[in-house]
Amino acid sequence: MQTVVSGIRPTGNLHLGNYFGAVKSFIKMQEEYNCFFFIADWHSLTTHPHPDNLRNNVKTILCEYLACGVDPEKATIYVQSDVKQIPELYLYLNMNAYIGELERVTSFKEKVRQNPNNVNAGLLTYPTLMCADIIIHHADKVPVGKDQEQNMEMARHFASRFNQIYGVEYFKEPESFYFNQKAVKVPGLDGSGKMGKSEGNAIYLCDDEATIRKKVMKAVTDAGPTQMNQEKPEAIRNLFTLMEIVSEPSTYDYFNDQYNNMAIRYGDMKKQLAADINAFCAPIRERILEYQANDEFLQKVANMGAEKACASAQKTLEDVREIIGFHR
Ligand code: ADP
Ligand code: TRP
Repeated sequence: MQTVVSGIRPTGNLHLGNYFGAVKSFIKMQEEYNCFFFIADWHSLTTHPHPDNLRNNVKTILCEYLACGVDPEKATIYVQSDVKQIPELYLYLNMNAYIGELERVTSFKEKVRQNPNNVNAGLLTYPTLMCADIIIHHADKVPVGKDQEQNMEMARHFASRFNQIYGVEYFKEPESFYFNQKAVKVPGLDGSGKMGKSEGNAIYLCDDEATIRKKVMKAVTDAGPTQMNQEKPEAIRNLFTLMEIVSEPSTYDYFNDQYNNMAIRYGDMKKQLAADINAFCAPIRERILEYQANDEFLQKVANMGAEKACASAQKTLEDVREIIGFHR
């Protein structure tokens, strides 16, 4: 059976981008693959060096994974920092990673630009830690959104470089997995770019109905099309992309026809979109609250996951130590 690994950093609540970019695939994949889904708390230290409440943030993501339908009986759900073998593999991978290639990673350059006072070594070596997460369980597939393509490329480089340096065929090159074969980028509602926590434009799975409505009604639009069947400007395209993701195809087709016929009323479209997003989020929101009140169960899930993930990681580290040539 093929193996799947993926994780999300605990830096806030999950939003629609996280769900449709990653978590939706988790739920599908757990049915047919050997899955490891984790909470990337070490990764969060690269940008949040003084996490206000790390334990609570980890609990939040755990509840949200479960509320979305990630099933601890089917998948191994764990907290990254419970698996102490990961930093050992990270150390070995760092020995074979070059500063130049790490400095060229787009997301690194972007983070340096955003936060020039916190260019730490952890940020630079983010791709080697991510690679360690993935290859420690010999993942074949990694469900992620489009923004992770370059990190995935790096993970493949580091895996094959390890094999090359030590003259083995040990690690596989992991491939990205996209729900419908196509990389997903859920847009934000502010007219451009992707939905993201740091972009401040996210609709969270735990948002209540009024919050969702307020956010959607504020979305950027324009004065409307001036020609039949005209190409949509980015902000409008984003609104349609969201509708394509959360609404029924017939709803999407209806508003798309309205646009093409120059009869579109953005207010109506937004009301429908808000209602459809709420219909999607409401049951998840309820389950989040239920899990949040059940610390005992959450602890059990995390313990069970840690045990399984450590066993898998331990086996890899024993092989790796042997391959590199450490004495026992
Ligand atoms: P954020 O950008 O909000 O900080 P993360 O970087 O923690 O979110 O992303 C966690 C996962 O969710 C990754 O697999 C990422 O590719 C995916 N993801 C995040 N935002 C989006 C988006 N707007 N569209 C598609 N996937 C996304
Ligand atoms: N880099 C991913 C993100 O920002 C999180 C992550 C860390 C990850 N390690 C991973 C994703 C391993 C997939 C596999 O969203």
